[in-house]
Amino acid sequence: MIAFTAAEIAEITNGRLDADPGITPLSVVTDSREATPGALYVAKPGENADGHDFVPAAFAAGASLALVERPVTAADGTSYPAVLVPDAVLAMGALAAEAVRRIRAARAEQGSDLTVVGITGSAGKTTTKDLLAGILSTQGNTVAPQGSYNGEIGVPLTVFRAGTDTRFLVIEMGATGVGHIRYLADMVKPDIGVVLAVGTAHAGEFGGVENIALAKGELVEALAPGGTAIINLDDDRVAAMRVRTSAKVLGFSAEGRADAAVKALNADTNAGGNPEFDLQLPDGGAGLHVSSRLIGAHHVGNLLAAAAAAWAAGVSGQDIASSLSSQAAASRWRMERTERPDGVTIINDAYNANPESMRAALRTLADLGRGRRTWAVLGAMLELGEDSIREHTAVGTQVVRLNISRLVVVGREARALYVSAVQEGSWGDECLFAENVDEAYDVLNAELEPGDLVLFKSSNSVGLRHLGDRIALPPQTPQPADERSTLL
Ligand SMILES: Nc1ncnc2c1ncn2[C@@H]1O[C@H](COP(=O)(O)OP(=O)(O)OP(=O)(O)O)[C@@H](O)[C@H]1O
Ligand SMILES: [Mg+2]
Repeated sequence: MIAFTAAEIAEITNGRLDADPGITPLSVVTDSREATPGALYVAKPGENADGHDFVPAAFAAGASLALVERPVTAADGTSYPAVLVPDAVLAMGALAAEAVRRIRAARAEQGSDLTVVGITGSAGKTTTKDLLAGILSTQGNTVAPQGSYNGEIGVPLTVFRAGTDTRFLVIEMGATGVGHIRYLADMVKPDIGVVLAVGTAHAGEFGGVENIALAKGELVEALAPGGTAIINLDDDRVAAMRVRTSAKVLGFSAEGRADAAVKALNADTNAGGNPEFDLQLPDGGAGLHVSSRLIGAHHVGNLLAAAAAAWAAGVSGQDIASSLSSQAAASRWRMERTERPDGVTIINDAYNANPESMRAALRTLADLGRGRRTWAVLGAMLELGEDSIREHTAVGTQVVRLNISRLVVVGREARALYVSAVQEGSWGDECLFAENVDEAYDVLNAELEPGDLVLFKSSNSVGLRHLGDRIALPPQTPQPADERSTLL
């Protein structure tokens, strides 16, 4: 982390200093449980809790300074050392922007660079972030977000993990409204901006898919003329962003489009569902073969996006292809495959869901499941606004068209999916509606048989990823009801 004194923090954030000016925090946390000695604790007002309530806990854990919106006093009436600001989240952003400036300046003085890559899109950001960080870390010190940190808090927290020895900084950028990506891009000033896809994720909050396109394009608008915009030419709304940037444009295409500088040739998936292709880069790239360990044809676009960004950052084609071929999924619950000892295969993709990722996962299930009995255990896709019923209905139809053997729909919010599947198909008792995960668990536990392939997929807060984890454990012998009660 870049060292800031309390006095500097007050100056950068336009805050009021209520602490020894020389205190120099060693890290930044927004959760008091993560505070370690010397930390700067940011007290932000949350949806469920107010961070100011945890200032004492943060100091008890060793924090040296707090960033607060109102003074917090200890039981003995003294104030905790703090910088007082009107908005703690904006103050974090200002501090992160200054950290990036200082890293660049320090590295320029040493004759080296900092390359910042921003990644946005409606699906595949974390996957692409992990792939790109995997490639770049073979070349130099790389800082990338933990998990899916991608917002006004997650981005600064990522920046604070970088220092003057950081060569590459990878930033995932999420948005729930117009202006959010611009805010993040102004903070980190990316040299390379990647736009993956414009989907219907968060369409409700955004007020329509056109606003999503507007918002995602803010990343390429923010690039300087010396920068590079990495654009997905397979998505018309992304391809249209070419005219919204003054940076160099590098288009990629999983569909082999002629005008793409980075593309996959001879793309296919192997028996395990892993994509393979010959990688074409702007300077040719004959002989570059990528044989990925990720699951699902939809990852070809993410692999190409990571390849294009790495190439723009100066990595050789050989290093890109070999790193992409060696990397498995770095984050949990993304097409995570478990082979149960009894021959049941579980694919847990329930980290999150939107219509695009739902379709991609179902296609992969059908593809991998040839000759096997396939199960789709699906929960709601949230935050779709007025499109919700239509999108769930479309998924129900798709399940039938893909010939999935059995469907388990979990939770009232996903009921439209169940109804449309029933109307579309000629199911006997192969289509089931479960009120909650426990009901679904009992059905699966009783009925899964060796050879079955089961997909779990829902939005994050529906929690099917945990159901998938339970089912991935060796099967339990169902207990008769009376025995169960004696066990309790
Ligand atoms: N190109 C793609 N098309 C469709 N689905 C995809 C694509 N890339 C990834 N997915 C699927 O989308 C889901 C989320 O992937 P990932 O976490 O990489 O995306 P994200 O953009 O970071 O999501 P979030 O907005 O939740 O942070 C996973 O189920 C993944 O398999
Ligand atoms: Mg993510």
